[in-house]
Amino acid sequence: MDETPHMTKRIGILTGGGDAPGLNAVIRAVVLTAKNRCGWDVVGIREGYDGLLAGGPIVELTEDRVRDLLPRGGTILGAVNRGNPFVRLVDQADGSIDSIDVSAEAVRRMDELGLDALVVAGGDGTMAIADHLVPLGARIVGVPKTIDNDLDQTDVTFGFDTAILTATEALDKLQTTAESHHRVMVLEVMGRNAGWIALKAGVAGGADAILIPEIPFNIDVVNQKIRALRAEGRRYSLIVVAEGAASIGGDQQYYIKGDGLMTGRLGGIGYQVGNLIADEVEGEVRVTVLGHLQRGGQPTPHDRWLATQFGAAAVQLIIDEKWGQMVALHGNTLTSVSFSDAIKLKFVDPAGELVKMARDLGIVFG
Ligand code: F6P
Repeated sequence: MDETPHMTKRIGILTGGGDAPGLNAVIRAVVLTAKNRCGWDVVGIREGYDGLLAGGPIVELTEDRVRDLLPRGGTILGAVNRGNPFVRLVDQADGSIDSIDVSAEAVRRMDELGLDALVVAGGDGTMAIADHLVPLGARIVGVPKTIDNDLDQTDVTFGFDTAILTATEALDKLQTTAESHHRVMVLEVMGRNAGWIALKAGVAGGADAILIPEIPFNIDVVNQKIRALRAEGRRYSLIVVAEGAASIGGDQQYYIKGDGLMTGRLGGIGYQVGNLIADEVEGEVRVTVLGHLQRGGQPTPHDRWLATQFGAAAVQLIIDEKWGQMVALHGNTLTSVSFSDAIKLKFVDPAGELVKMARDLGIVFG
């Protein structure tokens, strides 16, 4: 069904999980498409599912309000990594924290806000929550978002291209100073479960070693590579490490350990790798942790385009009443997948073509 509907509707949109460059372009595309194509109104719900549960405040998203959003990073609606209506944390009188299920309340809020449909833009966590809300009667469609590009059911997510650009630029800059000082430069990039940013930026930025969560590493392999390069007369090296990487038999490194209720904060592997190299090879080692620079700033034109396509496609899903479906890109075709499929993660295949190509270039994976 592709006829333009004429009944007035009120659409809500929220952004869940961590932000990603391009989220504002999604918001803009949803608003402009809903308005121009269908005559529908769109309202924004602040702070993800938390805002939905609170029943507001909501933002009237007029065409004027969103017109200038294309180059703007972040999300004007705010985003939270918490806010799961199925696991609401409540302080107890004895100082402990308990969790309660307030999902029915979240669905009720949608009705109270007069929403005919809700667009959720987020990653696997956001889609998992939506997947459980739809059977309760919520009319939700999804837009995939993650800079990590680790959602299995879409070839690519917006924010990834921008993150690779930032990481590649960092490597370009590190290369010049590494060469001047004959140093080993270790760059830690994001990538909790999957090493896509490390792999793509590492190849694009001329890394000598790329360490990713999918391939537990042996530091000796990295050190041998650095020594071999020195023996050939190249006295600097570039090493890219995904934050979720770990040595063979080793553990992922955390700044803050998670528990059943809170996700832990990864970090520290870059310094661990730097120390392991400094112990064994000649020359100085320096470590750079790129962190949230990868999530901030203007989206690339590619990400603006993709985010715009996804936003427009989300409106189409609402027109078609495809509740419980997330927009996805397969090749050049925009399609949709169920939320339950959408939450599957996509990993770098250690034996796949991309890793093989990188190895053939002389890059080691530890
Ligand atoms: O999921 C995207 C991501 O950027 C991960 O790579 C990273 O571990 C996480 O978000 C960081 O989240 P936060 O902003 O909560 O520190």
